[in-house]
Amino acid sequence: MSVFRSGIDSGGFWLPRQGSTVAPKVDALFHAITWIGIFFFVLIAVVLVVFVWKYRARPGREAEATATHNQALEITWTVIPMAIVIWIFWQGFEGYLDMSSPPQNAYEVQVLGQKWKWLFTYPNGVVDENLHVPPGEPVRLIETSQDVIHSLFIPEFRIKQDAVPGRYEKEWFRADTPGEYQIFCAEYCGTQHSSMLAKVVVHASRGEFEKWLADAGNFLDKLSPEDLWKGGERLYAQRGCKQCHSVDGTAGIGPSFKGIWGHRQPLRGGGAALVDENYVRESIVNPQAQIVAGFEPVMPTFQGRLKDKEITAIIEYVKHLQ
Ligand code: CUA
Repeated sequence: MSVFRSGIDSGGFWLPRQGSTVAPKVDALFHAITWIGIFFFVLIAVVLVVFVWKYRARPGREAEATATHNQALEITWTVIPMAIVIWIFWQGFEGYLDMSSPPQNAYEVQVLGQKWKWLFTYPNGVVDENLHVPPGEPVRLIETSQDVIHSLFIPEFRIKQDAVPGRYEKEWFRADTPGEYQIFCAEYCGTQHSSMLAKVVVHASRGEFEKWLADAGNFLDKLSPEDLWKGGERLYAQRGCKQCHSVDGTAGIGPSFKGIWGHRQPLRGGGAALVDENYVRESIVNPQAQIVAGFEPVMPTFQGRLKDKEITAIIEYVKHLQ
């Protein structure tokens, strides 16, 4: 499956399919500007060639000292292009206002950009790596970043908004067609920028969306104690641990989770720490406390972002990987 086309219907020659209510307007203006450009390019190029031929130097013809003045012609070629650019401005401005003012009753999802993963937080506290939404309802995204500037870009919805650390940005859309749509990061944010991908999942109905939301909220509760590590594995992939910690023993931005349980890890600045429940917990809520030798103190804290039960599940997962 191409990353540019995630659905059944294609969107024509060079644009992805139209997945949101603003997409047809954006495309109409894009096509209008393109065709206006083509029209004037052809007109000017043809007139240029005709004039070069018609007014070429020939024996017996005196060259005129300067072009003569033609009031009517000058007014025409000033007024018509000006009317066109004012129309383009108006269309763009109207579209911009529409795209930057979410409807009051919109469903709200919090978006966090981090190197290199998007996290979506729903009103009931569920956090997911993909953006799930009900169909046919306006959805407002409140975006921020915990490190550098990212940009949430959904080509099929024709919307893009920077996620900036220390402030909240908004974007909104309404998607009427159920299906999956690709999310990109459109602001170069470091080595794994191009893999900072996610999906918009537009559910078939409000009911199906709510069922998904309820299931996503209590998946840990459904696991037996022996299977809790599976929940940890899911959280590892979902919450962004994976971006820095491998599970096969290779060192990434942080140490691998593989084979560390029960072993002593040499620390930056000397000493060692035994990897047990308390060590893993501290590494999650207060990552700067003990840095493993050979790694940079770059991990953000997950205090308040992971519940106790979730931390326990991740501890079980690390234990499972010994
Ligand atoms: Cu995040 Cu590019």
